[in-house]
Amino acid sequence: MCGIVGVNGLNNATSVLVNGLKKLEYRGYDSAGIYVNEQNGKDHLVKAQGKIINLENKITDDVQGSVGIGHTRWATHGIPSVENAHPHFSQDDRFYLVHNGVIENYLELRETYLKGVHFESETDTEVVVQLVDKFSNNGLSTPDAFRKTISLLKNSSYAFILMDREQPDVLYVAKNKSPLLIGLGSDFNVVCSDALAMLDVTDSFLELHDKEVVTVTKNDVKIENENGEKITRKPFKVNIDPAAADKGAYPYYMLKEIDEQPAVMRRIQGKYLDNNEPKFDAKLIKQLTYATKLYIVGAGTSYHAGLVGKKLFEKLAKTPTEVVVASEFAYDDPIIEDGAMFIFLSQSGETADSRQVLVRATNEWKVPTLTITNVDNSTLAREADNAVTLEAGPEIAVASTKAYTAQIAVEVLLATAVGRIKDIAAAKEIDLNEQFSQTANAMQVVVDEKDQIQKIAEDNLAKTRNAFYIGRGLDYNVALETSLKLKEISYIQAEGFAAGELKHGTIALIEKGTPVIGIITQAATADNSRSNLQEVLSRGANVINIVREGLAKDGDQIIIPSVDEIMMPLVSVVVGQLMAYYATLLRGYNVDQPRNLAKSVTVE
Ligand code: AGP
Repeated sequence: MCGIVGVNGLNNATSVLVNGLKKLEYRGYDSAGIYVNEQNGKDHLVKAQGKIINLENKITDDVQGSVGIGHTRWATHGIPSVENAHPHFSQDDRFYLVHNGVIENYLELRETYLKGVHFESETDTEVVVQLVDKFSNNGLSTPDAFRKTISLLKNSSYAFILMDREQPDVLYVAKNKSPLLIGLGSDFNVVCSDALAMLDVTDSFLELHDKEVVTVTKNDVKIENENGEKITRKPFKVNIDPAAADKGAYPYYMLKEIDEQPAVMRRIQGKYLDNNEPKFDAKLIKQLTYATKLYIVGAGTSYHAGLVGKKLFEKLAKTPTEVVVASEFAYDDPIIEDGAMFIFLSQSGETADSRQVLVRATNEWKVPTLTITNVDNSTLAREADNAVTLEAGPEIAVASTKAYTAQIAVEVLLATAVGRIKDIAAAKEIDLNEQFSQTANAMQVVVDEKDQIQKIAEDNLAKTRNAFYIGRGLDYNVALETSLKLKEISYIQAEGFAAGELKHGTIALIEKGTPVIGIITQAATADNSRSNLQEVLSRGANVINIVREGLAKDGDQIIIPSVDEIMMPLVSVVVGQLMAYYATLLRGYNVDQPRNLAKSVTVE
């Protein structure tokens, strides 16, 4: 899942490309490159390994032009290196290409069509640019050579931008599964994986659909579908304040995004609550109310927010709910009940695994769908029947924080809305305004007392190889999320575990000094969790308790403010987010851009 950009018609194309890549760095940051053409026979290719700053340092002042393409990479085929960095070019140096996605049948195509061709890289992408070159050498025009090449790609995901040195004022663009937008300007046009990349030059964008091929010049955008038919489409405005994607005085985006959570709670309260009643599209609430069963689909942190959602819909709306791992369910053979409805949780709205399930839900199971996402106009938002946005503001750090709490907050409101129509006591009893205000205040208390958490991280997580989070019920759901946070940025082998399950095997991993963090916010299971923590303590573990006020006992290290038990995940998780943040700082790793990861996973 890389980030790609293209510019046509701006004399400062080089800086627009580099700035765009910086905004897309969350999508992959192991190598990058640009190709810029001066429209006078002179052109420039610059590639570098590592982050965009390395590329920027290699770009000399003479690298100028008005048409160009750029790429920041998350390696799929071929190690991170200058050779494997994009743009890739044809062996005769005529064509240049950037790509986001995976060409599944690249080896077969290379074998069939490109014997004897000299390859610079190990990538699947280079096969595509060599094929375009081959077919154009066989006499096809560039658009036809591009189309012929695309027609040979099987089950592949791609967002392409191609340049031809013999027609340097044209960008050839194509998309299938991977996200791609056209940015419209006066006397210029741009191409980007995400609108964030080009918000400095335009706020008007054209969405592209799968299998579309587009020709972009500085004054014109021609969209054609798979059969070559001309497509016209109305542009949409993106109203994101580019400054919102700036980290300001914060050392890292993750800390900024953790601190923003109380404000996000109040924003959600303001948008989706009216006079203490949830306020959503009536058609959506009707579909959710009539649903005989809900399927919540997500990956990583979004899957974890779904686990909390299951408990909310079953408690507040009495609707049977199943939570599924997107990448597993995408190729599963489930029995989908009549009257089922699918809810997709996705911060980016671009996760390929989740989209694969959405395609089946729409075309095969023909059930109503809802996407809850942080990116308006994202693929999952556009392709679902309904979309609800998280209002969390751009989330740049790879480790998701405010999107997780925002997803749960929206689930609370949707489940309550359905429960009140179905006359469910639990839904009628909850004072939403009061709970949202108290929860925002409780989150504020936790972030204001972050020094205490920093100290505990210093004492327990600076050197450890592994760690455990344990809890029961909603606390177990949070333990899965807080352990993922710790794992993905500090590289500590952390596991979230059902407290009662530990004694059935995993407790064998507990040895002297193993950090075990207990989460205790649910009264019904508090004593059980404490017994389980006692069991690991007596085997030498370093036990740290995160406990809700009112359930606390002497010796508990982290006491958090008390709100309604169903809202407690929104407070307890913040402790775990900060724990991960400080453990990572202590170990000297990059908090926002952890190794091997990317923010938006657009390949399966
Ligand atoms: C979480 O911190 C990770 N970045 C990752 O697990 C993420 O939650 C997952 O890739 C799903 O992304 P999405 O919410 O954008 O679909």
